Amino acid sequence: MCGIVGYIGPRQASDVLIGGLARLEYRGYDSAGIAILSSAGLDVVRRLGKLVNLSNAVSESPVPGTLGIGHTRWATHGRPSEENAHPHIDCTGRIAVVHNGIIENYLEMREELSATGHILRSETDTETIAHLVEAYYDGDLAAAVSRAIKRLDGSYALGVVHLDHPDVLVAARKDSPLIIGIGEGENVVASDIPAVLEYTREVLVLHDGEVAIVTADGVRVRTLEGADVSDPEMMHVEWDLAAAEKGGYDDFMLKEIFEQPKAIRETLRGRMCNGEIQLSELDMKPEQVAGIDRVFIIACGTSYHAGIVAKTLIEQWARIPVEVQVSSEFRYADPIVDDDTLVVAITQSGETADTLAGVREARERGAKVIAITNVVGSRVTRESDGVIYTHAGPEIGVAATKTFTAQIAALYVLALKLAQAKGTVQQERIEHLWSELSRIPDLVATILEDIDGLRECADEYIGARSSLFLGRGIGVPIAMEGALKLKEISYIHAEAYPAGEMKHGPIALITEEVPVVVVATQGHTYEKVVSNIQEVRARGAQVIAVATHGDEEIRRHAEHVLYIPATTESLSAIPATIPLQLLAYYIAKARGCNVDQPRNLAKSVTVE
Ligand code: F6R
Repeated sequence: MCGIVGYIGPRQASDVLIGGLARLEYRGYDSAGIAILSSAGLDVVRRLGKLVNLSNAVSESPVPGTLGIGHTRWATHGRPSEENAHPHIDCTGRIAVVHNGIIENYLEMREELSATGHILRSETDTETIAHLVEAYYDGDLAAAVSRAIKRLDGSYALGVVHLDHPDVLVAARKDSPLIIGIGEGENVVASDIPAVLEYTREVLVLHDGEVAIVTADGVRVRTLEGADVSDPEMMHVEWDLAAAEKGGYDDFMLKEIFEQPKAIRETLRGRMCNGEIQLSELDMKPEQVAGIDRVFIIACGTSYHAGIVAKTLIEQWARIPVEVQVSSEFRYADPIVDDDTLVVAITQSGETADTLAGVREARERGAKVIAITNVVGSRVTRESDGVIYTHAGPEIGVAATKTFTAQIAALYVLALKLAQAKGTVQQERIEHLWSELSRIPDLVATILEDIDGLRECADEYIGARSSLFLGRGIGVPIAMEGALKLKEISYIHAEAYPAGEMKHGPIALITEEVPVVVVATQGHTYEKVVSNIQEVRARGAQVIAVATHGDEEIRRHAEHVLYIPATTESLSAIPATIPLQLLAYYIAKARGCNVDQPRNLAKSVTVE
């Protein structure tokens, strides 16, 4: 949600800003703008809609200068419009501000500023920051920014420039990510790593309550009280620009679907040694792990679906009761968690506001919180007691694909660890499950090698207006994920149900026009699923079944069969996901949808 890029160095800032914002486009936005500072003054260009509108405007009327800030805005306060787009300026037109996050007390600030003669021109919370900096400015820009942000309640990542300081960019953050790419004679401030990778892989990670004074030659980090921070966090980015580019694929989403064998393999790497599941991130003695008597999983969206898969695994293998709740509900539900509960927070971005709020709530109640995330150094990693990283590499497509299957891989490891500590699964079986798990990347690769039938199947359903996804057991969260993928990228309504529940209501929706996608892989409820298929077919539905290789019988019950290789039932969640991701992808593409940036969605949802 929203993107920030700031630049100071020898290059034309507008090129760096627009290029950097393009690398953050995946985060979702509805307007964009830049402010460039030069000896001629402070130029602000803002446009509604896609970045191309801004870049065309800048091509027509170039804005020279080597210091600037840029922003892509996802509207929260005030509709998407040019007036509400960032950067925002103060009354004098000498200060420009870009901001990610939400200022909760902005109405109070607006009233106060208006009462003291400031003229606010937009509906945004951000504009108040520009005027507050103006009000506190007495020649020291960083000090004015510090004083201004001490007045703010809420979250922010900020970039601020002032005409009096043609060689300084001030950045600050609280509860919203901000990094500074450290180049040679140039520095790039950004809300996410892809925006700086063209220039450097050395990154300074700004922390809450820190203010950075960025020049072309260096960065000084201070506290809000003005004390120097002598050891700001530095990080070397392990991946390069190629990983953040499409690499010959039409879209990031397709590339990321194809990267799943690697993502899963990397996530499993090193997790089994001499028959012992390795999970030092739990940071608990064996007897403490064995003493866990309750697990609570919190997550949103696709990560929530990974959580439901984990419930099945942990309950089945470790015999520990697991509750799974969407984070936005957990926080306000007065949850029953205490110091005997292990809370697992799943979030690929590590920045989802609802999940972070849940993490805080759980820790306040004494629970130990383990985060599962894909983003090194993200906020959840700082707020949790332990972190299990998925090693999926950067995910740029807004719809989560490889991070989902990598999360499930990490959760398999956690479930096996708990089972081993509790002694609920015999060692021989643990080792058998591990060897089956180690085959999963290859099974996924096999599915990806043969997708022609899937494309043909997708072509038949591009006109559908509504669809139903069914499954049983571990197939339920996979059906839910399949439905979410289809609805979010193709805009076809899709609803998921446990197959046995379908006759209690959703069956009323079945007509010849409503395709029904059924996870019908081999398992202990297979026969029941087949009966459910017959129920929908008897009412005219067209059935697309995800089934196990060798199951010829299923062909008699379904218009289309999407086969996956055989594996242990509890491990089938990952392979069964792949055809559903591809089905959604090809249907959305055939409908002309932008699969990488579906409407209204953002890659990391940093507002509650
Ligand atoms: C769907 C999708 C979202 C996210 C959700 C949680 O494809 O990507 O539903 O799963 O916004 O995001 P994270 O995992 O970053 O907390």
